[in-house]
Amino acid sequence: MASAEELKRAAGEAALDHVTDGMCLGIGTGSTAEAFIRVLADKVQAGLNVIGVATSERTEKLCRELSIPMATLETLPQLDLTIDGADELDGALRLIKGGGGALLREKIVAAASKRMLVIADESKTVETLGAFPLPIEINGFGMVATYLAIQEAADGLGLSGELTLRRTGEDPFITDSGHLILDASFGRIPDPEALSRALHDVPGVVEHGLFLGLAKEALVAGADTVRHLTV
Ligand code: A5P
Repeated sequence: MASAEELKRAAGEAALDHVTDGMCLGIGTGSTAEAFIRVLADKVQAGLNVIGVATSERTEKLCRELSIPMATLETLPQLDLTIDGADELDGALRLIKGGGGALLREKIVAAASKRMLVIADESKTVETLGAFPLPIEINGFGMVATYLAIQEAADGLGLSGELTLRRTGEDPFITDSGHLILDASFGRIPDPEALSRALHDVPGVVEHGLFLGLAKEALVAGADTVRHLTV
């Protein structure tokens, strides 16, 4: 049986077929994105000409270490393709992202791209989003009020569950943009669009990890093959 690492690498390698010379690429965050970055770096070494925009400081550092030419959205605000992992994807390619804490930059970069291609292994596919806790990025100011307002908004949609402040050891986890993350264990999310709107209506919510209508394609690595899903 293929290991998780092998599946990530298979998805990363399959993604290379979608990268062509001269592309401006959004480059994702997480272990699957990292597998892609490593195979991309080999291609760049062999002469492929691309320029990347990273979705996190961690990705930026790795890409620079591997000599992938990098820019920022300030100088390159329109990208051809973003390749990124996901924590969950459903049949309509709606995603939960942010397990690695990079959801805000990931969403900005994906939205600035003509296409978003998700790379994942079969374990990430679900019927209904929500088994993976939904990351919600919030401003530190008034965080208890924001916490309560999120609970109320979720309640209004019949969703309940724990909201847990993400930590690194004893300290709150701080995102690359200086915010906090609440991980929301709502369970099944039958109407992700309604939850997205409700969360965006809460002052103090900076962004959430529901990626809706952004991904039109996914490469999902299983034991025997990599499936190419489109919507
Ligand atoms: C980073 O914030 C996330 O959105 C990742 O893309 C997601 O958590 C998938 O990560 P893995 O590929 O490590 O599972």
